Amino acid sequence: MSLRRADRQVRREELKAVAESRHTDYSRRAVRGDALTGRLGTRTASCLFIGGGLLLWAAAALAADRVQQPSMFSPVSTPAYDIRELSFLVLGLCALIFIVVAGMATYIIVRYRSRGDDRREPPQIYGSDRIEIAWTVVPFLIVVVLFLVTARYIYGIERKEQAPDALEITVVGNQWWWEIRYPKLGIVTANELHVPAGDERHAAPAFITLQSADVAHSFWVPQLAGKMDVIPNKTNRVWIDPRKPGLYVGQCAEYCGTQHAWMLLRVVVQPKPEFDRWVAAQQAAAADDASARAGAKLFVSLSCINCHTVRGTAANGVFGPDLTHLMSRETLGAGAARNSPESLRAWVEDPATIKPGALMPAMRLSSDELGQLTAYLLTLR
Ligand code: CUA
Repeated sequence: MSLRRADRQVRREELKAVAESRHTDYSRRAVRGDALTGRLGTRTASCLFIGGGLLLWAAAALAADRVQQPSMFSPVSTPAYDIRELSFLVLGLCALIFIVVAGMATYIIVRYRSRGDDRREPPQIYGSDRIEIAWTVVPFLIVVVLFLVTARYIYGIERKEQAPDALEITVVGNQWWWEIRYPKLGIVTANELHVPAGDERHAAPAFITLQSADVAHSFWVPQLAGKMDVIPNKTNRVWIDPRKPGLYVGQCAEYCGTQHAWMLLRVVVQPKPEFDRWVAAQQAAAADDASARAGAKLFVSLSCINCHTVRGTAANGVFGPDLTHLMSRETLGAGAARNSPESLRAWVEDPATIKPGALMPAMRLSSDELGQLTAYLLTLR
């Protein structure tokens, strides 16, 4: 993996160069900016600034369109539909207020602009009860409506009863990954949640119990449900009933330390038969591949087993992700890298090259050991 390292080194130098050039750019821009405001006036300059910002934003939005973006405006599960409905109501109400206020202001500015040399002062109104009552009561009523509607939606989502045969999942937030347990099914996995899809006639709600092993996190898959805090020593709950098979991405939404940004979550919604096959595969014992015995032996002889479990072996640690079916997962390090043989090897060699700050230490293995260990992990399908 020295090539990878060299790559990273080059990248780091590039970034440094960019940062330095940016630094000088800023000071130059400040001088240029002064000249600009001098020539055009502050208002024109700020208009240019805002216009430029909007253009940049539009460009970023276009670029972002190419990667998968979780959007709360394309829900596939009841709580997310409710949230979108409520958002549209709030946005609509705000748009209406904006149109009324901006319209009145524009009308007044145009209609009563100063004309010719008419310097008379317009009539001044002091202490009009009627006007004051109107501008107090109307906003108050708007806020009351928003409050009542929001409370109704929250109550509607929260009071959902759990059917006795509903799918139960426990998600435990860890720095910086998600442990996912299916207590009734005897499955433990990480970072990738699988649930069956319901359809229009038959919803398949899954109830997710949220716990934290360390600090506060927040569970958020925008297309499935609202955010829910994941708090140490407290149990929270969310439920989802996705109706469309697909991959829905989410992430930790509460700053929880260095790698908060790489605490991603993938929810795989599958048709029921496919989900049942996944369950059966996860319940199966870990593979015992004769060709990877050397790696398996190495694995249990190293401190890997203090943190990781491979069911059916001496490895029963609980601080790190369960590795029994490691290769059934798409990503490594909670979404930090694709789960390929190359990145798996790089990860085992030194997780910090992929996810700086990750709590798994570099084991300082020789190239041979690294090869054997990776070969063993690759058999854990
Ligand atoms: Cu966990 Cu942010």
